[in-house]
Amino acid sequence: MSVALSIIYLIATVTFIVGLKRLGHPDTAKSGNLIAAAGMGLAIVGTIFIHDLEVPTIIYALIGIAILVGAIIGWLIAVKVEMTKMPELVSLFNGFGGASAALIGIVEFGNADIQATSASMVITVLSAVIIGAITFSGSLMAWGKLNGKVKSVIKIPQYNIINNVFIIAVIGLAAYMTAGSIDTPVLLYALLVGGLVYGILFVMPIGGADMPVVISLLNSLTGIAAAITGVLYDNMVMLVGGILVGSAGIILTVAMCKAMNRTLASVIFGSFSASASGPEGVNKTLGTIKTTTASDTAIMMNYATNVIIVPGYGLAVAQAQHVIHELEEILTGKGVNVKYAIHPVAGRMPGHMNVLLAESNVEYDMLVEMDDINPQFNNADVVLVVGANDVVNPAAHNDPSSPIYGMPILDVENAKHIVVNKRSMKAGYAGIENELFYNSKTSMLFGDAKAALTDLVSELKGM
Ligand code: TAP
Repeated sequence: MSVALSIIYLIATVTFIVGLKRLGHPDTAKSGNLIAAAGMGLAIVGTIFIHDLEVPTIIYALIGIAILVGAIIGWLIAVKVEMTKMPELVSLFNGFGGASAALIGIVEFGNADIQATSASMVITVLSAVIIGAITFSGSLMAWGKLNGKVKSVIKIPQYNIINNVFIIAVIGLAAYMTAGSIDTPVLLYALLVGGLVYGILFVMPIGGADMPVVISLLNSLTGIAAAITGVLYDNMVMLVGGILVGSAGIILTVAMCKAMNRTLASVIFGSFSASASGPEGVNKTLGTIKTTTASDTAIMMNYATNVIIVPGYGLAVAQAQHVIHELEEILTGKGVNVKYAIHPVAGRMPGHMNVLLAESNVEYDMLVEMDDINPQFNNADVVLVVGANDVVNPAAHNDPSSPIYGMPILDVENAKHIVVNKRSMKAGYAGIENELFYNSKTSMLFGDAKAALTDLVSELKGM
């Protein structure tokens, strides 16, 4: 590799690390993203133009067309995608990363003289095919589940055993090909199909609140696949980029499992099924609900000393982040102490609430993480829950039969008064009843979050 290309790769590697570091805070996240993207752009340009190979012009033209088409499609999707659809987009991106690794593996298997290639290199090529194929089909399956095209939880009997036997067979075939230096294309394609089928089998039984964990796991698999292709091409920047994505994905997966009090094994092999909800407003075992109005809620908040706002997925759906900031500013102006309680899996993607509230310029210091805010609910006069459901569901503490039992939640029931804004009595993402709504301290403020908060703001302005 030329010195110029080595320097370019070094610069790109540094930009990935700096970019990743800056993604850790909303104030620096945008610039972090741009810095890493610029580094990636530089690495791509360097790879295309700085080499000792004889490359026909047609290849440059094809690469140029592919980049142009990809960039236009990527740009259009990124501009159009709604914040709530982000996990679906991430899932698709993961899938394409996996597909690239699998295709590279297939091409390099064809190029190599397998009999003369070292076993470690054959393992690398075959791993790219298998991991890439699993990531591709698994991510497409996850994408289908997230956008509702595929039924949330599909279980076949004894799926654990079938899945394990299947992946062992795939690995066994790869080991047989490596040990015997076998270069039969049919077996390679059998491995590819095996990987694709396993990806589907692996994601099929997972559902409900476990989906974000799977997406994150697939994300890290994409990174591992990219790192493998880096080894294949002895390409430092692909290797480092892949390792960064792979390790960040694993860290995020573990953090999300922790936030939901689930082990990774229970996500992959366990079930997450919904329980049936009762009729609207009345539940045989949970009792009845109490409703309230914007004006009553405004009076309560106006005379409160401490108010905690709990944002959830519904806030994002209603795009009510600006009006909630306005509400918080009015209350603060009246001398009320306001904080936002942030649950790690509130919304539909990691950091969803942080990003949403940062968009409306809420001071970052006002966002308090779950472990820090939970002891403060005792002192809260009013808790306003806006479009959140699972993350405030006491069944996580009280009901061992609940699928979310053991998941850490925001302990809003410890507050003096709880106001919950949502549109109906429908369940949240996990599809389960929420006994908080039936608590004697809770009042339901029904309506779309934006409309309800706008009413609340105008009531408060008039006081
Ligand atoms: P959810 O439990 O999904 O509840 C959101 C609530 O918002 C719903 O009950 C819905 O009730 C209400 N809502 C929807 N649109 C609304 C609108 N326009 N105005 C007012 N309310 C509206 O949300 P959560 O408490 O934030 O919990 C997140 C859930 O998603 C967890 O189960 C979590 O595991 C899962 N999840 C998280 C992630 C990450 S990483 N954050 C990713 C995927 C899934 P109505 O229909 O009655 O209005």
